[in-house]
Amino acid sequence: MQTARVTLDTIVYAEIARRRADPDPARQDVLSMLLEARDADGGDAPLSDREVRDQVMTLLFAGHDTTTSTVSFLLYELARHPRELSKLLDEQDRVLAGRTPTAAELTTALPQLEMVLDETLRLYPAAWIGPRKCIDEFEFGGHRVPAGAYVNYCSWASHRLPDVFPEPEAFVPERFAPAAKAQLPKGAYVPFGGGSRTCLGMRFGQLEIKTIVTLLLQRYRLELFPGQTITVRQMPTLSPREPIEMIVRERGVPAGLAG
Ligand code: HEM
Repeated sequence: MQTARVTLDTIVYAEIARRRADPDPARQDVLSMLLEARDADGGDAPLSDREVRDQVMTLLFAGHDTTTSTVSFLLYELARHPRELSKLLDEQDRVLAGRTPTAAELTTALPQLEMVLDETLRLYPAAWIGPRKCIDEFEFGGHRVPAGAYVNYCSWASHRLPDVFPEPEAFVPERFAPAAKAQLPKGAYVPFGGGSRTCLGMRFGQLEIKTIVTLLLQRYRLELFPGQTITVRQMPTLSPREPIEMIVRERGVPAGLAG
């Protein structure tokens, strides 16, 4: 890990130095915004190289593994559930008719995709555990938790409570149909955490995943290699332990759109 960190630091610090040496106001990416940022409470000072590096690392690690693992798990479950896949493709053909979706369409016009994503994050909440510190003593399930104790919430466990999610191991996107979703007890479904530390990249991550999945499914059929199963590992985010092997076929022209 130490060696990997040195490698990453070298890349990130070199990019920071390159950008500082050649500032270009036309650049709109997040690194340029961090380099332009001024501390309103700190005498208008820019961020130091170390601060920019820390922000970049956080965005890379909070934002990369979580998103890519979720895409993998989602495509894996769809390949195992042809009926769910076909509902999703119907929705795509109906709403998009082969077009590239806009951000607004991805956010509001594809409810089937939303449910599939919600259910994927229920079964595989990439950031599956969250650290907290207890402020005041309290009792829970017959255990006294003292003030100052470190406690973790665990979405992997909450998301499998059978009284909230019947048959918890089954992949059932309809659990997240809008009316059912509204009935979920507070805190039962927390793939992006909760409270003041809720995931900063939630909307961005959801949009990324929906974009990738939509563009892939518009073009390709992904079939699991026969006999393929997966095991899940955590290090620290959840991901498939081994690569998921799939057969990729051209999807062809969606039914009804030929010509
Ligand atoms: C499927 C994708 C993602 C999942 C499942 C996810 C999940 C989470 C969870 C569970 C937390 C902890 C919340 C807590 O402590 O209660 C978190 C925090 C955070 N996430 Fe995400 N995340 C995702 C994508 C992203 C993306 C794309 C970014 C940024 C580009 C991002 C940036 C962050 C940051 C900065 C925090 C720390 C927030 C804070 O402590 O104030 N996440 N995320």
